[in-house]
Amino acid sequence: MTRSDILPDQGPFCSFEESKRQIDENRQWMPGGVSSNFRLNIAPTPLVFESGDGPYLHDVDGNRLIDYYLGMGPMILGHRPRAVCQAVTSQIEKGILFAGQTRIEAEAARRFCDMVPCAEQMRFNCSGSEVIQAALRIARAATGREKIVKFEGHYHGWFDSVLWSVAPPVDAAGNPQNPVAVQGSKGQLAGSADALVVLSWNDLESLESRLAARDVAAVIMEPAMCNAGAIHPLPGYLEGVRDVCTRTGTILIFDEVITGFRLGPGGAQERFGVTPDLSTFGKAIANGFPVAAVAGRGDLMGLCAQGVVHGGTFNAQPIAMAATAATLSALKPALYESITTQGEALMNGLKDIFLVEGVTATVTGFPQIFHVAFGLASPARDYRGLAGMNRAAYVAFSTELLRRGVRVLERGAWFMSSEHDSGVVDETLSAVGDAVRELKRTDIL
Ligand SMILES: Cc1ncc(COP(=O)(O)O)c(C=O)c1O
Repeated sequence: MTRSDILPDQGPFCSFEESKRQIDENRQWMPGGVSSNFRLNIAPTPLVFESGDGPYLHDVDGNRLIDYYLGMGPMILGHRPRAVCQAVTSQIEKGILFAGQTRIEAEAARRFCDMVPCAEQMRFNCSGSEVIQAALRIARAATGREKIVKFEGHYHGWFDSVLWSVAPPVDAAGNPQNPVAVQGSKGQLAGSADALVVLSWNDLESLESRLAARDVAAVIMEPAMCNAGAIHPLPGYLEGVRDVCTRTGTILIFDEVITGFRLGPGGAQERFGVTPDLSTFGKAIANGFPVAAVAGRGDLMGLCAQGVVHGGTFNAQPIAMAATAATLSALKPALYESITTQGEALMNGLKDIFLVEGVTATVTGFPQIFHVAFGLASPARDYRGLAGMNRAAYVAFSTELLRRGVRVLERGAWFMSSEHDSGVVDETLSAVGDAVRELKRTDIL
C-alpha cells in the first residue's frame, strides 16, 4: 500500500482545517474545546474523529490516519474489534444499568482473576484514577499508616492526592536524592502532599532507607515507567522493592493501568515475576470501554466488605462488563506474539532510520508500548535521565508524521495493537523516513 492509497483526496499531505474549525466552535461549550486536558495543546490542533477501524482512525477532514495513540493505550485489539462489538450489542438488548450484580460481571471478574497473578480478589470501577484512590485507601486501612511513597515521573491519575511530581520542571524538583514534591495543577489542595513521599525510581537504596522508619502505608509505582519514557526496571529492582516492602510491613501497589493486559495477559507483574500486594488496571482491560479494576490479596481486598468504602454508580456497568469479558477472552498468547513481531519490526526500523540519517535518539521499552527520545545517546533509567531529550524536535516530528497520515503521541510513546500488521508498519516507516529527512532539511534535527 502506498501513501496515495491512504490519502486519496488531499494530495501528499493531510490537512486538519475542519478539525480546527470544530474545536474552535466547541470552545463555546467546553473549555479548550475538549473534555480532558490531555487532549489540549496538540499540534497542529486537537483532532475531531468520525470513526475507527482496525489500526486506522478517520477524522472530519477525511484523513485516514494510522493510529499509535490507540485511545491513549486501551485499544489493544484495534478499533472496532468484531468480538467486542458483538458482545456489547447483544448485552445492550438486555438492559443498561441495574444497580445490582450480573452474570457477565462475575464472568469478567473470574477471567480477570485467572489472568492476573496478584488477583485473589478484585473490584471494578470506571477509571484508573478511581482505582488508585481505592488502592491507597485499602492500604491505609490495612496498615493504620498514612504515608504513601510515589516516584518522580510516574502518573497515577488526576486526583489531588497523587498528582504530584508527574512531569516537574527539573529546576524545581530539588536534589534527585531527595526530590521535592511538585504540584501538578492549579487548585490542588496544597496539603494533599503532606502524606506523600516522592523518590527517584530505579533507586533501591533511597527506598530502603525511607521505609526503614516503618511509617509508610504503601509504595505505588508503574512497574515499568511508561508515562514518562518506556523504562524497564533495572535487574533486581522490583525484587528488591518487593523484599523491602515485605520486611517493613509496607503494601506494594503496582499501577498497571498502562502495562496491564498490554505487556502480556498477566501484565508487568507476570512478565517480571514479581507479585505486588495490590494492583490497579484500566485501559486495555476492555478495549476502550470505561472499565478499571483494583485487585490483590484476598485479606486486603476483603476490607472492602469490612468498612473500607469503595463505590461508584457505574461500577461494573453490564455493557462495559460484556466488553471486558470479550476483551479478556481475546487476549491469547498468539495475539501477544503477533504484536511482539510487529512491534519489534517497528522499533528496529526506527532505529535503522535514525542510524542511517545520523539522528541521535533512543528507542526503548517493549514491542507493545515503546518510546522514542531525540537527543539521548543512551536509554534513560529514570525521570531525570529523560530530561535531556529534545522535546521540541519530537513535537515537530510527530507533526510531520501526522501530515503524512501517522498519528503518534507528542510525548514519544507508541502503542501497538494486534491490527498493526507488516503493511501498516512498512507504511509507517516510509512516513518516518520522509519526516526525518524533512526535519534535517529544516535543521530541526
Ligand atoms: C499508570 C496510570 N495510572 C493511572 C491513570 C489514570 O487513569 P484514568 O485516565 O483512566 O483515570 C493513568 C492514565 O493514563 C495511567 O497511565
